[in-house]
Amino acid sequence: MNNSWWRNAVIYQVYPRSFLDTNGDGDGDLPGVIERLPYLKSLGIDAVWLSPFYPTPNKDGGYDVSDPRGVDPRFGTLTDVQKLIESAHELGLRIIFDVVPNHFSSDHPWFKSALSSPPGSPERARFHFFDGRGASGDEPPNNWNSLFGGPAWTRIAESDGSFGQWYLHLFDASQPDLNWANPEVSLDFEKTLRFWLDRGVDGFRIDVAHGLAKDQILVDHRDPKSLSQALRLDFVGMTQESRAGLLRDVPFFDREGVHDIYRAWRKLFDSYDGDRMSVAEAWVYPSSRAARYVRPDELHQIFNFDFLMIDWNSDVIREAIERTLSEVAAVGAPATWVLCNHDSPRIVTRLKDANRARALALLTHSLPGSIYIYQGEELGLEDGSISDEARQDPMFFRTHGIDKGRDGCRVPLPWDAAMPNFGFSSQDPWLPQPAQWAKQSVNSQEVDPESFLSFYRKSLALRKSHPALNHETPIIWHHAPKGVLHFEREWGLVVVVNTTDYKVEIEVSATSNILHISRSGVHLANGHLKLPANSTVWLES
Ligand code: NOJ
Ligand code: CA
Repeated sequence: MNNSWWRNAVIYQVYPRSFLDTNGDGDGDLPGVIERLPYLKSLGIDAVWLSPFYPTPNKDGGYDVSDPRGVDPRFGTLTDVQKLIESAHELGLRIIFDVVPNHFSSDHPWFKSALSSPPGSPERARFHFFDGRGASGDEPPNNWNSLFGGPAWTRIAESDGSFGQWYLHLFDASQPDLNWANPEVSLDFEKTLRFWLDRGVDGFRIDVAHGLAKDQILVDHRDPKSLSQALRLDFVGMTQESRAGLLRDVPFFDREGVHDIYRAWRKLFDSYDGDRMSVAEAWVYPSSRAARYVRPDELHQIFNFDFLMIDWNSDVIREAIERTLSEVAAVGAPATWVLCNHDSPRIVTRLKDANRARALALLTHSLPGSIYIYQGEELGLEDGSISDEARQDPMFFRTHGIDKGRDGCRVPLPWDAAMPNFGFSSQDPWLPQPAQWAKQSVNSQEVDPESFLSFYRKSLALRKSHPALNHETPIIWHHAPKGVLHFEREWGLVVVVNTTDYKVEIEVSATSNILHISRSGVHLANGHLKLPANSTVWLES
């Protein structure tokens, strides 16, 4: 068995703009992350993944990169990055950076020179520039829609002021897609990966990893409207099947060519010492397609987003666990589990209930593979409610407010209830924080053994120390009443989850003890277990 650190790790996502502001400009920064590394270590995590901190006009929260080998002055300097890597390593934490290979920012020098160069020039060939359709070329080259709403093409003015060509952007118009059929693009990314690997980074999260190959660039999409619907990140209520139907045959996702790119990247990662890793953000359907990204000569992990959208239903949850484990096992990769990230409603908000959120978290922390935790998830935060005037997400603007976008889950963290802006910043934060977050600040929760934070710390500590949890042992399912999940991790950890709204009673081994519970009201005597509504328990037998 491969014992690489990332196979059974807990990886914490930092969204730097919202983590901690040390210079009073209202935006979180890298010195803020460095300052709170001891806090992150105290959670019992193994690695920190940072969302982008590269120079950016910030049209899409930094996922619009204008220099992939630099640091935006709002976040700090290259010296800060170096210090962050070193300080993390000193504490025994690994560091993962985000790379954004599908697109650059329109502020990147490459795009600026493409605009000032003529059609057909090598400068334009780094992106996807095409003439429009129709007699005067005033219709986009195909019918693709942007994932943020509106058409995926924008027409430029040529240098002489005439109406010009169109360029492709699957996201905002400020995020022109790169042409991966052009070797200049792959060489530049190799340079970027090496730049950060040479500085000691332990891995990469790869943005839109399924989108790079565009061999069907002029092929119309059979149903472009349905796609943006399927990809709406507030997907609550959409079933796996209906989403899969909408996401079938998308001409710009999950093309065969992406795998050649990752085979080359894998060789590069393997040429470095220190067990470097990669994780793909790739929304592919059906889920069996996901395993193709983590074949032994490709990437190390792919996010499994099932739990990000899952219904609080025991049959659906069991199906997702079994399917995920068997799909990744077939290629020898570990599973991953994600409850929250910077693109989706927070788990308490989505499940509309803190007990359910805790129960799902405790179930998740008991599973084999790697767990991704999004900053503030450990505090049980809900999405902030944000007025339309304060919104910043391009999704809000491109859909004319139909989709509210993702700002709600990006509100800056509450650290200290007694300080201005809960200790996030001495100035107004870039998004307003809910008043009730005082009770949920880190310092209020640290002193409360019943808090979300104490609950997360305990399960993550047990995940490290318990022999059934600290590596990838299999799951053995036990029979359970409707609405209940009952399974065992090899070597003595039993997990019972009650997804119903009423108390349930089941028989377990007479020698069991309670190790951890998601809420109070659990009783165990002589193998007779009583579980309150919406709860999970860990037992040791
Ligand atoms: C996925 C990122 O997580 C999201 O925040 C971003 O808007 C898109 N990719 C485009 O880069
Ligand atoms: Ca700052």
